[in-house]
Amino acid sequence: MAGFVDFSQPSLWLSAASIIFNPTFWNIAARTEYHNKTLTKLAGGKPLYGCYGLAATIFCLGIVRDMIYERALRTQPGHPLMQGPLAQALAVALIGSGNTLVLSSMWALGITGTYLGDYFGILMDEMVTGFPFNVTGSPMYWGSTMSFAGTALWFGKPAGLLLTAVVFVAYKIALSFEDPFTSEIYAKRERERKNGGKKAQ
Ligand SMILES: *[C@@H]1O[C@H](CO)[C@@H](O)[C@H](O)[C@H]1NC(C)=O
Ligand SMILES: *[C@@H]1O[C@H](CO)[C@@H](O)[C@H](O)[C@H]1NC(C)=O
Repeated sequence: MAGFVDFSQPSLWLSAASIIFNPTFWNIAARTEYHNKTLTKLAGGKPLYGCYGLAATIFCLGIVRDMIYERALRTQPGHPLMQGPLAQALAVALIGSGNTLVLSSMWALGITGTYLGDYFGILMDEMVTGFPFNVTGSPMYWGSTMSFAGTALWFGKPAGLLLTAVVFVAYKIALSFEDPFTSEIYAKRERERKNGGKKAQ
């Protein structure tokens, strides 16, 4: 690996740090909101605005992370196996399908559904099961990971694949926190609905 990746470049480490920082930040922010309504308070008591604020922050952090990633790749050595028309075609396919997963997921979930609205008490009426959720349970994460891999191939840089692995692990860890937590939020609503139903009878 040492010959393929230039570990002496600070931009490589900065990129890895920003990749790890983003999901860590939004998980901590969302849990703080869930337990203490911190973001809602910051937004003047309106959960919807709090969620929009978090959405804008996460969106901007994502753009910064992508810019740092591209800059890091520019300082890294290339590899002939990752260059040429085949690699370029694969790069376009990965970025294209990755973006399709991300954008169709945002389209299906809306802003509050995409950006952790459940932690603000803004729940989806029912689970979205159509595309892209019939392809993968976490289209945002998979789509984003595919775009990272595609960009690595586009530039022909092995360091990009290493950073893509960091993305993959960071998202895996984030999901292991998020999935059980959101399941519990929805399970709680189901329990409350049942109790509410009994009281109404
Ligand atoms: C919520 O606030 C309490 C008391 O201020 C604090 O102890 C707790 O750590 C906070 N919880 C989160 C998830 O931030
Ligand atoms: C997912 O749903 C879309 C339309 O809702 C459909 O066209 C597609 O074939 C489905 N994919 C899978 C893997 O089931």
